[in-house]
Amino acid sequence: MESRADAVVVFGVTGDLAHKKLFPALYQLKRRRQLVGPVVGVGRSAWEDWQLAAAARKSLGEVGSLVDMSVFDEFASHLTMVAGDYADPDLYERLVQRLNGAEHPLFYLAVPPAVFPHAIAGLASAGLADQGRIVVEKPFGHDQRSARDLDDLLRSAFKPDRIYRIDHYLGKESVEGLLAFRFANALFEPLWNRDHIAKVEVTMAEEFGTQGRAGFYDGVGAVRDVLQNHMLQVVALLAMEPPVDPDAIAEETLAVLRRMRKLSPATTVRGQYAGYRDEPGVDPLSTTETFTASRLEIASPRWQGVPFLLRVGKHLRANAAEVVMVLRRRPADLFTGERTLQPEPNLLRLHFGHHDGVTISLQAKVPGPDAVSRTVELSTAPDSAPRQEAYERLIGDVVNGQRHRFVSAEAIEEQWRIVQPLLDVAEQPLPYQQGSWGPDAAESLSDGWHEPHLPRERTS
Ligand code: BG6
Repeated sequence: MESRADAVVVFGVTGDLAHKKLFPALYQLKRRRQLVGPVVGVGRSAWEDWQLAAAARKSLGEVGSLVDMSVFDEFASHLTMVAGDYADPDLYERLVQRLNGAEHPLFYLAVPPAVFPHAIAGLASAGLADQGRIVVEKPFGHDQRSARDLDDLLRSAFKPDRIYRIDHYLGKESVEGLLAFRFANALFEPLWNRDHIAKVEVTMAEEFGTQGRAGFYDGVGAVRDVLQNHMLQVVALLAMEPPVDPDAIAEETLAVLRRMRKLSPATTVRGQYAGYRDEPGVDPLSTTETFTASRLEIASPRWQGVPFLLRVGKHLRANAAEVVMVLRRRPADLFTGERTLQPEPNLLRLHFGHHDGVTISLQAKVPGPDAVSRTVELSTAPDSAPRQEAYERLIGDVVNGQRHRFVSAEAIEEQWRIVQPLLDVAEQPLPYQQGSWGPDAAESLSDGWHEPHLPRERTS
């Protein structure tokens, strides 16, 4: 059993991730008494401790957390800043001082990948890596080879079971909810295979664009930003064999990732929203995709022949993260008469974004003389209980040495293998209007996608 972390060090503390996600998560952990010891911010800007505390306060204000000032003051009293150049050994000597003898420090790399080698080498030569655990954010490499190199670099300094590769989708309440629906319901599990499921559509749509990150995004694109990681992890959770216990989830997701065939440009539609190339930071001739829809095949006895249709994109019609499992049509023999209608297939919709829950669409008879059915929907009632934020849950796991919500190096390599043929495509993506569902050509991939279902907005 791993000891609890007794210090947290955030590299890149002045950046966007710290502002939007890490400060709120650390504050919540403090509130739940999960966080002990110093919280050290590392960054290039010459901030003093008070500026770090002010940045933390501002971040909490902006995410709209209710702040308990006595907890915040306690949190702020542990915040301390170490500023300097990541390549300078002196930075790490000063970090040693601030850590004040902490025995199990946690290092969070919220910095661009180019900084990783400096940070890892600096920590190792200051003697901080031996007992430390390290959290690495995506993108984990930019292809299979660079992911392997990054992994070698991490393993040269940190013990393999102290390396935490984060995919924040695995910390989402709604994503974990998929496992409960699938494995805790006798109703669903028997249907979960090629005998009953005709196809699976998975949509991760955002109605906003690059949100000030265009410079970063243009070098990445939708495949590397979301499809290679969040999307494939969600599909792996849906498609895996039942794990024996939580620790076996990584093993089962890896096994199913290995059975996924590489995505093919021939069954992929790439799109770019109108106006993207005019954004500051974007190459005016950019061929980066802001939308992609692909057909994935899984060569397993459970899923052979069932298409998994995956689409992700920015500036689409709605914010939606949804799986639609389309069940096979029932024979319509009973429905013969004056006016008959082929019953629609049942749909099982699983919401895994800012909404959670399921909606099942069933066929019910239309009252009257004709043997006609219509679709009725059953949805789980929204539960107003507060949802723990993904980053809070995941950082809490690292603090406590729990690994089951993290991604293995092997899984990341498989994910790169699956998307590799799409990374090599240099053609201009198809244009699409902002606020649409992407290029029209994407419709034909799935002979028409089911429109995502948008339950009531929830804030988490
Ligand atoms: C990030 C991507 O990993 O996930 C972003 O870099 C994307 O482009 C985000 O917007 C989506 O996360 P969430 O939790 O808001 O669905």
